Amino acid sequence: GDLPLVMGIETSCDETGVGLVRGCELLSDEVASSVDQHARFGGVVPEVASRAHLEAMTPTVHRALDRAGVSLADVDAVSVTAGPGLAGALLVGVSAAKAYAMALGKPLYGVNHLVGHVAVDQLEHGPLPKPAIALLVSGGHTSLLLVRHLATDVQQLGDTVDDAAGEAYDKVARLLGLPYPGGPPIDRAAREGSARAIRFPRGKWGDGTHDFSFSGLKTAVARWVEDGVREGRDLPVADIAAAFQESVVDVLTRKAVDACLEHGVEHLVISGGVAANSRLRSLAEERCADAGITLRVPRPRLCTDNGAMIAALGAELVAADLPPSSLHLATDTSLP
Ligand code: KG4
Ligand code: ZN
Repeated sequence: GDLPLVMGIETSCDETGVGLVRGCELLSDEVASSVDQHARFGGVVPEVASRAHLEAMTPTVHRALDRAGVSLADVDAVSVTAGPGLAGALLVGVSAAKAYAMALGKPLYGVNHLVGHVAVDQLEHGPLPKPAIALLVSGGHTSLLLVRHLATDVQQLGDTVDDAAGEAYDKVARLLGLPYPGGPPIDRAAREGSARAIRFPRGKWGDGTHDFSFSGLKTAVARWVEDGVREGRDLPVADIAAAFQESVVDVLTRKAVDACLEHGVEHLVISGGVAANSRLRSLAEERCADAGITLRVPRPRLCTDNGAMIAALGAELVAADLPPSSLHLATDTSLP
C-alpha cells in the first residue's frame, strides 16, 4: 500500500513551516516567515517569533493540507522539531503537533532540526547513500555531521566555537550598511568585487579539527571598516563582501571535503540557509569534483527552514520502526 502520510511542523526560529510527505515524495511545503518583523532589529527577536508562530500555525497547516490535496484525517503521523531552537518558538510547534496527534489518534515524533536539514535532501535527490557527511550552514548553526543512518546514527564531528556562518553574514552586512538578512545582499555585492582585494583571516584553518570560528573574521572586517572611515576613504563594499565571503566559503568547503576524506565518505550534503550562497555552491562543486566526492545541495527553498524537512525526517523514523515520542515530549533548546 501507500507509504504513511507524514505531517511535519517546524517552529525553531522565525519560520512557521508545515510540510506533507510520503517517504521521499514531497506533497506540500508551506512556510510563513516573520523575517520582516525582525528586520529592523537586525536579528530574530524571540518573543516576536513566538507570537508570529502562534498566529500562523493553524492557517499554515490548512494551506499545506490543501496544497497536498489531503485532509487532516489522512495524516498517519505527526513529526515536529523538538530542538535545537528558541524556547518559546519550539513550544508553539510542539504544542500544536501534540494537539494534532492527540486529536487524530496518530503517533507523534519529536525530531532534531539539524538532522531535518539533511533529510530534506531526499525529497529532491532521492534516498541518501550512506555514510554521508553533511555540512549545515545557517543563521543558527554551522556543523559537520557524519550520517550513517538518518533516524538512528548521526554523529556531530564539528561545530562553530562562536558565530554561525549565517550570523557572520548578517553581522558583516550590518557593518557594510546592507539589509538583514545579510546573506543575499553580500552574495550579490561580492559578484561585483574582487575576493583578492583584501585578505581576511580564515578561522581555525588547518587546525586539525572539524570546528569553525567566524568571530575573528567579523572583527577583522569591522576593523577594516573603522580604519577606512577614520581615514576618510570610500568603503569598497563589493571588495569587502567578496573577500569576506571567500574567507567563509574557503574554510567551509575545505573542512567539509577534509571530513569526507578522513572518514572515507563519498557523499557530501550541504544544507541550511547559507547553502543558497552562489560562491559556496561553486567552490564546493569544484573541490568535490577534485576529490571524487558526489555533492548534493537541495534547492534554496528546501535549504532554509521549512516543515517538509521535519516531515522527511519523521518519515525516516516511521520507516525505521522507531517508537513514537510520548505526548509529554519536551522541547530541548540545545538538543545535541
Ligand atoms: O536556514 P535559515 O533560513 O534559518 C536559520 O538560521 O536556521 O538560514 C538563514 C541564514 C541567514 O543568516 C542568511 O543571511 C543566510 O542564511 N543566507 C545566506 C544566503 N541566503 C541566506 N548566506 C549567504 N549567502 C546567501 N545567498
Ligand atoms: Zn535551520
